[in-house]
Amino acid sequence: MEYKYGKNDNYEDFSAGRVLYNVKGMTNFPVRLAQEIFGRCLQYSPIKNNICLYDCCCGGGYLLTVLGFLNQDTIGKIIGSDINIELLDIAEKNLSLLSKEGINRRILEIEHMIESYQKQSHIEAKHSAIKLRGLIKTDIEFKVFQSDALRTINLDIKPDIIITDVPYGKMVNWKSDEENVIDKLLDSLYEICSSDTIIGLCMNKKQKVRNEKFMRLEKQQIGKRKFEILRKNK
Ligand SMILES: C[S@@+](CC[C@H](N)C(=O)[O-])C[C@H]1O[C@@H](n2cnc3c(N)ncnc32)[C@H](O)[C@@H]1O
Repeated sequence: MEYKYGKNDNYEDFSAGRVLYNVKGMTNFPVRLAQEIFGRCLQYSPIKNNICLYDCCCGGGYLLTVLGFLNQDTIGKIIGSDINIELLDIAEKNLSLLSKEGINRRILEIEHMIESYQKQSHIEAKHSAIKLRGLIKTDIEFKVFQSDALRTINLDIKPDIIITDVPYGKMVNWKSDEENVIDKLLDSLYEICSSDTIIGLCMNKKQKVRNEKFMRLEKQQIGKRKFEILRKNK
């Protein structure tokens, strides 16, 4: 796949555990790929600014927070939900970094760590936090809530873009015994999508997307992952 939107940059300022908070055992979603999926979804969306972005399997909110930092001109609101309530505290802490107040609080926290441990990694984290603060131009509203993405999602707003990295692998599995989970997920997303909502669904190569309520706009493979971009059938 040729990258059109994700710049070939050094994204180490976004490394989880540095400024953004880390969820133990969860690998970070590649920043360049996140940016590429967002850029491609935006290209299909008729709405180009003040976008409401939703992730229905948001975990610790890493993907959403990174996209918030990198798309200050386009994202106006971020919503995340996950079945695991313990992760939502981390998601909230990560998304709070998108405000000047939140990132300043994090800088103070890192400064206390520098004082206590005199570690080079904390000094580097402070530099990264200052760089991330420099990216903030707008106040992005955010909300997180607990929800099983395979059942009714209580969302009072139709998101413009949904990007989600669905569970796969040994560390993060679907909390469900059902078969055809992707199909079930799309049935549930169908109810909260408008006819313009664009979905960027990221999964592993084995997972299959078969749902007649949606049409596929794109399918791409990158290493062990693939993503599909979908919109409701009109
Ligand atoms: C690959 S992780 C997503 C990581 C996330 N994108 C991030 O940036 O931190 C998949 C997430 O799906 C969640 N999950 C598993 N089953 C779920 C379900 N039925 N409904 C909603 N979330 C679920 C897991 O708790 C996990 O946080």
